[in-house]
Amino acid sequence: MNNASVNVTVVGLQWGDEGKGKVVDALSRGCRYVVRFCGGANAGHTVRVGEERYALHLIPSGILHENVVNVIGNGVAFDPAVAWQEIDALRQRGVKVAAGNLRISAAAQVVMPWHGMEDRLSEGRLGDRKIGTTARGIGPCYADKARRTTAVRVGELLDPAALREKVRRIADVKARTFEALYEGPDPIDAEAIAEEFIEHGRRLGPMIANTGALLRRAIASREPILFEGGQGSMLDIDHGTYPFVTSSPVTACGVPAGAGVPPSAVGQVVGLVKAYTSRVGAGPFPTEQDNETGQRLRDRGHEYGTTTGRPRRCGWLDAFAVRYAADLSGAGEIALALLDVLSGFDELKICTGYRLAGRDMEDFDPQIMGEVECVYETVPGWDEEIAGSASFDDLPDAARRYVDTVEALLGRPVGLIGVGPDREATIVHHTGVRGLRA
Ligand code: GDP
Ligand code: IMO
Ligand code: MG
Repeated sequence: MNNASVNVTVVGLQWGDEGKGKVVDALSRGCRYVVRFCGGANAGHTVRVGEERYALHLIPSGILHENVVNVIGNGVAFDPAVAWQEIDALRQRGVKVAAGNLRISAAAQVVMPWHGMEDRLSEGRLGDRKIGTTARGIGPCYADKARRTTAVRVGELLDPAALREKVRRIADVKARTFEALYEGPDPIDAEAIAEEFIEHGRRLGPMIANTGALLRRAIASREPILFEGGQGSMLDIDHGTYPFVTSSPVTACGVPAGAGVPPSAVGQVVGLVKAYTSRVGAGPFPTEQDNETGQRLRDRGHEYGTTTGRPRRCGWLDAFAVRYAADLSGAGEIALALLDVLSGFDELKICTGYRLAGRDMEDFDPQIMGEVECVYETVPGWDEEIAGSASFDDLPDAARRYVDTVEALLGRPVGLIGVGPDREATIVHHTGVRGLRA
């Protein structure tokens, strides 16, 4: 049965940190399931409820809603140690996290201690050419997934004897590899790791499930599902600024494979777009403002990584890149976040296209982003703070015009407008999402 009308997929259309956590939390209210399908603890999704701030890495952003079942899908790189830190911290703050509202796919990949080691060793070796990863072991974990013989799936944590055997075997392979490739790697204590992960399995046991089957049943009974993207489209393993990308498919195209559902389950796609651009880590960024403008955006937007604390690189909105990402995911509408950060600029620039060797580029191509020159449209700025604005009509003329320009350049409606970090600070504009339509 086609579930297109009840499901929603939220994906980032830039380089991550577009404000997915806030929007997913807001949209969770009307959903039964909230599902992560890509990435792992490299994600950092912030939900602000009044004075309370929750930074979620692995746990889906529906966790604050009592009736939501949160699902960590098979496409996720699951780090049990990080998951427990997060679960314990949430419980300490009075948030219920139990088998009833958190299900973890038995087919998800486990991030093992040697993955973090390899991530750091490899980045250290690369020096100036490093990717600038989050050092969470994500790349090495997915590399082992593809290699198959050195991977551990979550379901395997439930069989202590077999796990002990497997950990010993893989640890031996990793120790030899690291010794051959890197100087002075830390020793790998296979026995300690085996015991630690057997214990993880014991504690996680009740939450481990066949989540694909669970979601396909939900689809059959038309229970609403929200798929929560991690990262952003320009970091997609296939369609991003390769090799300066993450290691999983993060667009809406990643949903079916990463959650175990048919493509028709993706439903309405909401593309999350920051009103400007930020990027953490290395790689091309044509609209980057490595100057006073960038610093101002960083200061006003508090642009420091949720996962690593690194200062984010900041620049103007790149509508040419975002349109590519919106087309790729089939985004029916845009959620434009952090518009409030743009107050106080005399004028604002939006990149509308690229020029390469003096010629306008027709088709967007992430592979040559490092060599292009941006074509900008300049629009007037506004001085007023807009954080308290409740409706589109409350916004200053220039802010409304900015939103209209974004709609025109992206060729789709702006459904929601973010005007502050709090869960309530959202203007409902041209959305078609069920339950939100004005
Ligand atoms: P995510 O990874 O896409 O979930 O985004 P992050 O949580 O890493 O980064 C977004 C940051 O912007 C967080 O600190 C949010 O609290 C904040 N944020 C989200 N939406 C808005 C908004 O509309 N206005 C402002 N000022 N902050 C926002
Ligand atoms: P959320 O879900 C921003 C970036 C890293 C690095 C590259 C590869 O919060 O938007 P990795 O550790 O994945 O191998 O790093 O990808 N990156 C993110 N940047 N937001 C994220 O997630 C990111 N997840 C990975 O900074 O450039
Ligand atoms: Mg983030």
